[in-house]
Amino acid sequence: MIKPANLAIFLSGKGSNFASILSAITNGSLNAKVVVVISNNSAAGGLVIASKNGIPTEVLVRENFASGEDFGTTMLNVLKRHECDFIALAGYMRKIPSVVIRAFPKRIVNIHPALLPKFGGKGMYGHHVHEAVIAAGETESGATVHFVDEIYDNGDVIGQKSIPINSDETPESLANRVLEVEHQLYPEILQQLVTRLN
Ligand code: GRF
Repeated sequence: MIKPANLAIFLSGKGSNFASILSAITNGSLNAKVVVVISNNSAAGGLVIASKNGIPTEVLVRENFASGEDFGTTMLNVLKRHECDFIALAGYMRKIPSVVIRAFPKRIVNIHPALLPKFGGKGMYGHHVHEAVIAAGETESGATVHFVDEIYDNGDVIGQKSIPINSDETPESLANRVLEVEHQLYPEILQQLVTRLN
């Protein structure tokens, strides 16, 4: 068997995408091991999921460091200590320090709850995305997995899955339907990526 890729998950919130990644690992459809979960938010539900699964966690808060450089170096050291091959952002609400982005070229990915390049960029997160999609009268939305670079939602798109928007759609119903799509798409794309690594 090919050695599982060592995956770091970055999250800020409830961690349902993280949970879907763990399920895919358990059912054998994703050949990876989550070696560490990093959060900026000590109250993130995703940290509880990590602890329940015996996965190490690290809470790294930029404001607790004297400089952005210290913050970035500490994050990089955590990733090195856990021998991470790959980073998956799963609802991580902060920018990744440049030093980390440079150390993992094409090895950091993010999932976004819309069809990029539409409805991405600063301020386009959570309910804002789905409200904007409906206000624009779009007929479809979906999820996008893309590489992470130094600009929000800017890196190359790796994969997308779309769904039609229903006539009675609300931002809430769309958010729920897109999240289901995310839970399928993210593990699938991660498996494609880790296969390419080996
Ligand atoms: C998802 O909608 C994802 O697309 C976005 O943040 C949300 C995270 O949700 N980047 P969860 O914490 O994985 O449930």
